[in-house]
Amino acid sequence: MKLLLLGSGGREHALAWKIAQSPKIEKLYIAPGNAGTSEVGENIAIKADDFEAIRQTVLEKGIDMVVVGPEDPLVKGIYDYFKQDEALNKIPVIGPSKAGAVLEGSKEFAKGFMQRHGIPTAGYKSITADNLEEGLAYLKTLQAPYVLKADGLCAGKGVLILPTLEEAQKELKEMLGGMFGKASATVVIEEFLSGIECSVFVLTDGKSYKILPEAKDYKRIGEGDTGLNTGGMGSISPVPFADAAWMKKVEDRIIRPTIEGLAEENIDYKGFIFFGLINVKGNPMVIEYNVRMGDPETESVMLRIKSDLVDLLEGVAEGNLAERVLETDPRSAVCVMLVSGGYPETYEKGFPITGIEEARNAGSIVFHAGTACKEGQTVTAGGRVIAVSSYGKDKKEALATSFANAKKIEFNKKYFRSDIGFDL
Ligand code: AMP
Ligand code: GLY
Repeated sequence: MKLLLLGSGGREHALAWKIAQSPKIEKLYIAPGNAGTSEVGENIAIKADDFEAIRQTVLEKGIDMVVVGPEDPLVKGIYDYFKQDEALNKIPVIGPSKAGAVLEGSKEFAKGFMQRHGIPTAGYKSITADNLEEGLAYLKTLQAPYVLKADGLCAGKGVLILPTLEEAQKELKEMLGGMFGKASATVVIEEFLSGIECSVFVLTDGKSYKILPEAKDYKRIGEGDTGLNTGGMGSISPVPFADAAWMKKVEDRIIRPTIEGLAEENIDYKGFIFFGLINVKGNPMVIEYNVRMGDPETESVMLRIKSDLVDLLEGVAEGNLAERVLETDPRSAVCVMLVSGGYPETYEKGFPITGIEEARNAGSIVFHAGTACKEGQTVTAGGRVIAVSSYGKDKKEALATSFANAKKIEFNKKYFRSDIGFDL
């Protein structure tokens, strides 16, 4: 099979690494990819949301399946674009239809969906400039801290958690006034939930589903979960509190009602679903849906899938996922992100990276995130640069390998958190 994977981050290198191991793969293309994906496939220099260019590539190269890494092309409707095109409509796209991608594209829709299907989530109210007074009054009924979420996609920046009522009321007005452009024309005000978070992933063909290994990510830049939010500083899998009893609650109360709810609402969904969960006194509740895999969770989760991922993706495309087998690796897997100094604020790019081979020889699986190839040399090209992933008999052993190898990889102003997994 010839497969085209869309995206360019650490998540996509991890997906490409796993997909390339499949005996079913004759050729893997990644668009646009990064310096790492070019080690396991062929990069094509087109953007992941340039549908016209993707169409042309798919037809020229005889692509048999398209796998979508990031949310953007999905929210823009790449699934529907293929379905509506006579030359493309037999080629499966792994990812939901535009109607399904709204689960991530609109927080208001996601909250309404959960309410309709009895899926546990924080209480909320959806506010626009027209019912601002109602929003201000609703805030008064809540306890601090206050959670405000821009309805639309904001590259992970659209959630504000505010310590006082005054700040929450002020920020609500600013969000509705255009703080995040159109994305915050509607704001979801939510009850604050307290607990540890966990990312649960499923692959679904719309009828049945496979639950992939769960993971926990570390979003803050500073040790001890302090400082600014980032795209993710590391991840670990499995998550100790997500034991069989807890996962049964997740499946019964959240996963199954979601899959059945999508079918009831006639929403075409064949792809990954990412449940951002929080453990509130032993009970899982949904913080958010994403319609793709997580980053940097994928850089741990892919290590723990023993089965052929392409066989599972074929099951999704053919609607017979229930007949396919998902076998997971009992070992722990972790990922430690090496980032550019200054990230998530301003940082420099273009620094040469050394030591990747040494880290690989010493037992880590090194994924590229923000890298590029310049004059034959791998250089930094983003905030999150390299994911150092490792196996271990337990979390401690896997982390020891990743931390040791994180030190072997060098670039100017490198930074990483050396406390990934500290809270578990
Ligand atoms: P989201 O973009 O929805 O994932 O929100 C970003 C982060 O804000 C989440 O990962 C949580 O850490 C936090 N968060 C979002 N909603 C809530 C909530 N209702 N209660 C507590 N924390 C929240
Ligand atoms: N790790 C969180 C995300 O991918 O959105």
